[in-house]
Amino acid sequence: TIKGFIFDLDGVIVDTAKFHFKAWHRLAHDLGIHFTEEENEQLKGVSRRESLQKILDWGQIKLSESEFEKRMAQKNDWYLEFVREMGQEEALPGAKEFLRESAQLNLTIGLGSASKNARLILDLLEITPLFQTIIDGTVVSQSKPDPEVFLKGAEALQMEPKSLVVFEDSLAGIEAARRGGFRTVGIGSKSILKDAEIVVSGLDQISPVEVINQLNF
Ligand code: G6P
Ligand code: MG
Repeated sequence: TIKGFIFDLDGVIVDTAKFHFKAWHRLAHDLGIHFTEEENEQLKGVSRRESLQKILDWGQIKLSESEFEKRMAQKNDWYLEFVREMGQEEALPGAKEFLRESAQLNLTIGLGSASKNARLILDLLEITPLFQTIIDGTVVSQSKPDPEVFLKGAEALQMEPKSLVVFEDSLAGIEAARRGGFRTVGIGSKSILKDAEIVVSGLDQISPVEVINQLNF
């Protein structure tokens, strides 16, 4: 039976995936690398360092470690400029309601994000207290699709992966959840998130009770 939910952040709870894309796009452009939305799909859920490495590989460019660090910092500065201007309305439709309803049902709630900015964003949205555990980019060493982030979440919540549902908008994240033995809900399009057990376009399209009923069936 399902006892709790672990949520990815970017693209599931908050509409920051578009800011990551804008910032990476600008950086790729500066480096003379062409970078499309399809390629961006492969960066979703992937750490800052690995994302930059992928972009450089696509452009067949090599950077020194110090140049690499500078570019990562630059990307994050641009990203945070967007984030700072973001308001409550940037929470994705239905996300906060879904979290509150889950809490009312006494489900355990955790965060499993690759982002080092996760706590800042939860604070800006004023939803930090809803989470019993926050596993983010500051505590994981392996990027999704490695299951580490979700396994650490399960451990912190003292629950088995099979009794936890992971909500993810990224290919890498759904794969990570599956590898870890978690139940899965994809947030996005069925054509991309083929391996998720349920796919909805947003958390406004399903309720916590419906998720549990569909997965228990
Ligand atoms: C999430 C996003 C990725 C991002 C990663 C690291 O997984 O989907 O696009 O690269 O977090 O985020 P950060 O805020 O630490 O750069
Ligand atoms: Mg995401």
